[in-house]
Amino acid sequence: MKLLSIESSCDETAAAVVEDGRRVLSSVIDSQVREHQVYGGVVPEIASRRHTENIVGTTRLALEQAGLSLAEVDAIAVTAAPGLIGAVLVGVNFAKGLALAAGKPLVPVHHIRGHVAANYITWPGLEPPFLCLIVSGGHSHIVRVEDYTTYRILGRTQDDAAGEAFDKAARSVGLPYPGGVALDRVSRGGDPERYPLPTPHTAGKYDFSFSGLKTAVINLSHNAAQKGEALSTEDLAASFCHKVSGILWDKLEAAARDTGESRVAIAGGVSANSWLRERAEQGCRQNGWQLYMPELPLCGDNAAMIGAQGYYELLAGNTAGMDLNGRPYMEIDSKF
Ligand code: KG4
Ligand code: ZN
Repeated sequence: MKLLSIESSCDETAAAVVEDGRRVLSSVIDSQVREHQVYGGVVPEIASRRHTENIVGTTRLALEQAGLSLAEVDAIAVTAAPGLIGAVLVGVNFAKGLALAAGKPLVPVHHIRGHVAANYITWPGLEPPFLCLIVSGGHSHIVRVEDYTTYRILGRTQDDAAGEAFDKAARSVGLPYPGGVALDRVSRGGDPERYPLPTPHTAGKYDFSFSGLKTAVINLSHNAAQKGEALSTEDLAASFCHKVSGILWDKLEAAARDTGESRVAIAGGVSANSWLRERAEQGCRQNGWQLYMPELPLCGDNAAMIGAQGYYELLAGNTAGMDLNGRPYMEIDSKF
């Protein structure tokens, strides 16, 4: 079964064709990152307008690269939540138009479920159940993926998402948006022990808290500026990446130990972080666990992951009618 999938929840306009949830026939991503960079973050209204301009061309290209016409795909999958609502609605309405015109089923996909499903593309043998750490710009969760459309949330952030903490910490030391990418890049030559950062306390054993860490970085850079002292961006970036990847791994490891799960995945934009990937590789090797991570181009927002998850939603009968609406917020374990 071939799904045409559309993603427009943040600042990438993306379309893809995916076969049977695993094989990517085409994947086109039109990124707006450069345009938002001058503002230091995503400007929602600009994002919506760019999606409106680019969505037709992006989708045409995805079909063309897959060598298929709209009539030849079996269903239309679209990110319908969560995300910037104006941006989400562009994709939702466009997908509705396509589904209506072509007489195809419409499959709403939860964006974060899509991030988890990026692993199905990279790992054709991966099937639930498994444990997954999901770390993106808006979410930080540890979930047990019970089956393709059922999730048990074990832990979540109490304040900022991991990606948000990366972006804000990066901004405070003058690095460009998206800060996580820049911070990771400059951190590689840095000393991870140079700036000790606090370990946050959380109520739940598998919960996260990143706002204190973010503030610690901001305070360090402000204090240095006030005293006229030079701060090593490389060392601070390395210290931050080291600290955050350690926290993420420790929580995931505890959850895997406690649940007896030996299949462990990571997903979301922050799963591209080189420190986290190394930490998870090392930890899984030590424990004799199997680690699943999306290949780098599938970590960030893309439509292929929406097509992968859309296939399993379609198999489960989770289609929508023409009254489908987008939602800015939605839990991973709830239904459209
Ligand atoms: O999943 P994603 O592309 O979009 C959302 O669904 O939010 O995640 C974007 C987040 C941004 O905060 C970005 O800075 C972060 O992922 N990110 C990284 C890296 N690459 C992207 N954070 C740390 N290290 C990276 N290499
Ligand atoms: Zn995302």
